[in-house]
Amino acid sequence: KTIADLGDLRGKRVLVRSDFNVPLDGSTITDDGRIRAALPTLKKLVDAGARVIITAHLGRPKGEPDPKYTLAPVATRLEELLGASVTLAGDVVGDSAKDAVAQLTDGNVVLLENIRFDARETSKVDSEREELARELGAFADFFVSDGFGVVHRKQASVYDVARVVPAAVGDLVQKEVESLSKATTNPERPYAVVLGGSKVSDKLGVIGNLLNKADRLLIGGGMLFTFLAAKGYSVGNSLLEEDQIETVKGYLDTAEKNGVEIVLPVDIIVAPEFKADAPATVVAADAIPDGQMGLDIGPESQKLFAAKLSDAKTIVWNGPAGVFEFDAFAGGTRAVAQGIIDATAAGAFSVVGGGDSAAAVRILGFDEAGFSHISTGGGASLEFLEGKELPGIAVLDA
Ligand code: 3PG
Repeated sequence: KTIADLGDLRGKRVLVRSDFNVPLDGSTITDDGRIRAALPTLKKLVDAGARVIITAHLGRPKGEPDPKYTLAPVATRLEELLGASVTLAGDVVGDSAKDAVAQLTDGNVVLLENIRFDARETSKVDSEREELARELGAFADFFVSDGFGVVHRKQASVYDVARVVPAAVGDLVQKEVESLSKATTNPERPYAVVLGGSKVSDKLGVIGNLLNKADRLLIGGGMLFTFLAAKGYSVGNSLLEEDQIETVKGYLDTAEKNGVEIVLPVDIIVAPEFKADAPATVVAADAIPDGQMGLDIGPESQKLFAAKLSDAKTIVWNGPAGVFEFDAFAGGTRAVAQGIIDATAAGAFSVVGGGDSAAAVRILGFDEAGFSHISTGGGASLEFLEGKELPGIAVLDA
């Protein structure tokens, strides 16, 4: 069911699950991409005259109110972007939330306080989550699931509530599922995947799955050093997951058997410490000196990655190629972003998945329109790429 299938929504109370888990510096939102991505669904409901109640989480508070994790900055930003009144309730399902919902008028919005202030949200005990879901459900005539970034979580406001209130899929979740499916089901070839980010161990499932699907895997980010170590190179003080070296050796063997090309950097930008102004040097990937750590892929690797992307017809990118937050180590991530933009302009279908790579695109000033789709999901988009069933989506199909 989509929002259109819910019929005339004027005066109807619609509970929306959004993912407003945005990065904050104090109370300043440093990337509002997830709030912007939620706007099409919210605008549609507001314009239809619905009374909109939003539930969302921020960070990982410990199941009780914690001012550090208030959704207040989100409420302010959302009101600016949405152009409708947004009232932040002082609690999740308590008296403040009940009052705010009772006073809600057509075309206006109540944002319930951080759902993770209630321990039942993330409880492993079904009956506890179901109880919270019923309390949330009592606020609404309909439920719209639109927090793509949390659909991999079996939580009260994501999963259980969809079983107690007539539910529909929101525009964002629909668009995410369509785009990620297009990139993973019968992708047009060559199919190239760029993986980065700090840890191999976060990407084990994805890599395993892609070794049966992709034509090329380009490896950057902190995880690349475990690949270099698996090839027998020394990596100095670079990030290394020693306990994953054997697994990575297995990947290299499987890739060879399956005819999947693993593209590793040929040069690395190293520095003696993890600092924005640390002196940077370019070294060969098999000659990282002791006492130095790799913080980005080098200029030859940037050219190599761009070449491997240039003729791809489907591209998925998950994880920055280097420490893009520091200008001296942003070149690799820039080259990947530009390579994907060029390939997209030449007709490739491209998806950027993962919180960090999506943030990198915006922080480095690239035009989001240069990519076919930028996912709002971190863990959710990874689990999608792994081919796992996502509870928040499965429950809508049930
Ligand atoms: C995310 O940031 O990936 C989502 O908001 C999910 O957050 P979580 O990993 O704390 O469940």
